[in-house]
Amino acid sequence: MSTERESLVAVAFEAARSAYAPYSQFPVGAALQFDDGSVVTGANVENASYGLSLCAETVALAKAMNEGRRGGLVAIAVAGKDETPIMPCGRCRQMLSEMAQLGHTDPVVWSGTGDDAVEVRLSSLLPLAFGPDSLDA
Ligand code: THU
Repeated sequence: MSTERESLVAVAFEAARSAYAPYSQFPVGAALQFDDGSVVTGANVENASYGLSLCAETVALAKAMNEGRRGGLVAIAVAGKDETPIMPCGRCRQMLSEMAQLGHTDPVVWSGTGDDAVEVRLSSLLPLAFGPDSLDA
């Protein structure tokens, strides 16, 4: 496993400590790496109305957008309860794709550690993605 991948996955694990997940007992952390070297993290936020819960990736994405970021997303790490890899849900793939498309990047998505580690491109998780440019058609 590359050092870069190891360290971003470790940041995602650390971020999971901030999760509010009393219903699922499944804390998740996400770490978004930008091309200026900065990292924005998020953790899932659940709600007594279960369906309203926010995933870690969406929380991180919203934080980054609110910091004024509009592109430059180069890597995404996701960490769950243990070292088993987990990939972003469908909604989060779409949310993350917005930032990727704004900056014309195709971020690598990392999860898990050791032999189980997964490395894929966001475009392969969400092929033929709808995005900002689609509205111009
Ligand atoms: N969850 C995430 O935060 N990210 C994922 O990639 C998968 C699922 C959260 C949603 C919910 O709070 C908990 O994990 C169990 O589904």
